[in-house]
Amino acid sequence: MKTIHVHLPANSYNIHIGKDLIAKAGEMIAEDKAPCKTLLITDTNIEKIYGEIVAESLRQNDFDVKLLSLPPGEDQKNIENAWLLYDHCFDHKLDRKSLIVALGGGVVGDLSGFIAATFMRGIPYIQIPTSLLAQVDSSIGGKVAVNHPKGKNMIGCFYQPKAVFIDTNTLSSLPSKEMVAGLAEVVKYGVIKDAELFAFLEKSIFDILQLKDEALLKIIAASCQIKASVVEQDEKENDLRAILNYGHTIGHAIETVTHYKRYRHGEAVAVGMLYATKIAMELGLADRSVFDRQLSLIKNLGVSIQTGLKSEALIKALYTDKKTISGKLRFVLPIKIGEVIISDKVNEEILYRVLDKPL
Ligand SMILES: NC(=O)c1ccc[n+]([C@@H]2O[C@H](COP(=O)([O-])OP(=O)(O)OC[C@H]3O[C@@H](n4cnc5c(N)ncnc54)[C@H](O)[C@@H]3O)[C@@H](O)[C@H]2O)c1
Ligand SMILES: [Zn+2]
Repeated sequence: MKTIHVHLPANSYNIHIGKDLIAKAGEMIAEDKAPCKTLLITDTNIEKIYGEIVAESLRQNDFDVKLLSLPPGEDQKNIENAWLLYDHCFDHKLDRKSLIVALGGGVVGDLSGFIAATFMRGIPYIQIPTSLLAQVDSSIGGKVAVNHPKGKNMIGCFYQPKAVFIDTNTLSSLPSKEMVAGLAEVVKYGVIKDAELFAFLEKSIFDILQLKDEALLKIIAASCQIKASVVEQDEKENDLRAILNYGHTIGHAIETVTHYKRYRHGEAVAVGMLYATKIAMELGLADRSVFDRQLSLIKNLGVSIQTGLKSEALIKALYTDKKTISGKLRFVLPIKIGEVIISDKVNEEILYRVLDKPL
């Protein structure tokens, strides 16, 4: 097992990564938290496989557990479900010393964290992420939210978990498309901060896709370490944390234009990273090898990279993204593998030049 400490001024916590952790979750949680009323929130896919294992492990350690599962899917991350979950908090008589445990992907994690942040102005919560994306990204950093019909993740806040338990075994049941979506975020970490991680991905991508334990542990730990250190330096996303948005500017535009139906988020990010690198090349910031190495890795993941989308539509979506600051686009651009800069020098002309050509 590996443990990564997220050091924050008021809300430090540990991320534990290893095999078979979910069966020990109760025991490990009990080390820091006295038994209490606990709401265990999951979705029906995950409940079937892991719900009782976690619930039982908590019960064995005297936690009074109520297990609740929502249907799976992004559209469940809404205020109506939040309202329903508050009802369960009241029914199960949760108080400020109680606990919420989120067992699932990013949807369950974001929604459960939002409940924890807001019920009685905040009660402790723990993340047990089961998708790769949640393990390397959404469970760390304390961004919690629900969606609004006018914008994804627009109703939310920053609220850190008390601990994160990552069981690499849960990836054995994760659909392969979800695995690929999570891996795109791992590629992102390599490009923004860790050339060694990127080289390891190049060398071991097939071991990773075959879920070899050591390879999984390595990439998850490296990713968590990077996210943790970025969050430590910029908890509330003022500046540095923006580098985590590498590939996301055009990625979001692709998701918007395709109405969130054609691509998993990570796949759109993978394509977004390639376009961002093309932009960096146009600006003379990166050389061809930075693009080629990402291209071959992303092709090995099986992401289909030619979107066939019109540049006009993508550019329109770019300018309506919530991350635009006073009408100016901010791009995270690679200058080499392992290092990026934030630029507001990307204008429409450059965008048309890059987005008009296939990758
Ligand atoms: N808070 C943050 O910082 C942050 C960062 C990135 C993404 N997000 C959010 O995360 C969400 C996406 O997360 P996601 O990709 O995990 O989606 P998800 O939670 O919808 O999970 C994807 C699918 O995989 C299934 N699943 C998850 N783990 C499984 C397992 N071990 N075995 C079998 N099936 C499993 C789920 O039931 C679901 O059908 C989005 O809502 C996004 O906004 C948040
Ligand atoms: Zn992302």
